[in-house]
Amino acid sequence: MLQLRDVTKTFGTVTAVNTVNFEIDTPQVVGIIGRSGAGKSTLLRIMNRMTGATNGQIIVNGEDVLALRGREKMEWQRNCAMIFQQFNLVPRLDVLTNVILGRLNQQSVLRSSLRFFSKEERHEALTLLDRFGVAATALQRAETLSGGQQQRVAICRAMMQQPSFILADEPIASLDPLNARLVMEALHRINRDEKITVVCNLHTLDTARTYCDRVIGMRAGRVVFDGLPELLTDQTAREIYGAEADEAFEGSITSTSLGNAPKPDRAAMVGAH
Ligand SMILES: Nc1ncnc2c1ncn2[C@@H]1O[C@H](COP(=O)(O)OP(=O)(O)OP(=O)(O)O)[C@@H](O)[C@H]1O
Ligand SMILES: [Mg+2]
Repeated sequence: MLQLRDVTKTFGTVTAVNTVNFEIDTPQVVGIIGRSGAGKSTLLRIMNRMTGATNGQIIVNGEDVLALRGREKMEWQRNCAMIFQQFNLVPRLDVLTNVILGRLNQQSVLRSSLRFFSKEERHEALTLLDRFGVAATALQRAETLSGGQQQRVAICRAMMQQPSFILADEPIASLDPLNARLVMEALHRINRDEKITVVCNLHTLDTARTYCDRVIGMRAGRVVFDGLPELLTDQTAREIYGAEADEAFEGSITSTSLGNAPKPDRAAMVGAH
């Protein structure tokens, strides 16, 4: 489904991403963890083609998406929607328009600048807003929403792209615990209901353990752990995080701490569905 082969990115003398190899063959929620500067954002940006790789391939359906140009590259970018820590909505546009832009960005620039939307597009956007609990904000300017609401709108915009992959770069790093939970639950639900693969950079270990089917640990650009969250022992986590370990164990949305804290109940956190 998606296979990274020797993906590498250097910035001058810094190797931000160093011969990364992994494969995702079923729709799952993959958490990428690692200390600051480990290369997590660079890796997601390479996947989405926002940043070029220095070396390597990303094979999707038999094709190297890093080699695509023009329309095909844009089509890949539609297919792997990005979500950012700072939401990246257009602040002065209303929520509904922000969501519909997820669809129009792939089409005519003219049509999006004229803001010509079909009835179906409006209906689809409203249905998404309703599904993620923010329909009441549809006509407000995006800048008037709380962070948690904005991130759910950003998820709706991503869904308007009808992607197969959602790449989320620290989507909850700016949110309070309740909103962090709502956003992670939304991403988890999208994976389960729509079979969309979610690749999510995360700051805290407990979030990765709670919501992810698989965790990839990066250190200095390399993958140093790739496996089930259950296999991520505290010792392994310390190897991934090094000196930043204690920070990673804190501020988690389940408030468990390192050591003998019980492992969060993933099923209970995400709700049965
Ligand atoms: N545009 C750039 N120019 C030069 N160096 C860069 C650039 N982008 C990233 N780097 C470097 O690449 C390395 C990886 O950065 P990256 O942002 O991917 O890390 P990260 O794991 O996302 O960190 P954080 O948790 O702080 O977001 C860092 O050393 C960073 O300074
Ligand atoms: Mg980052």
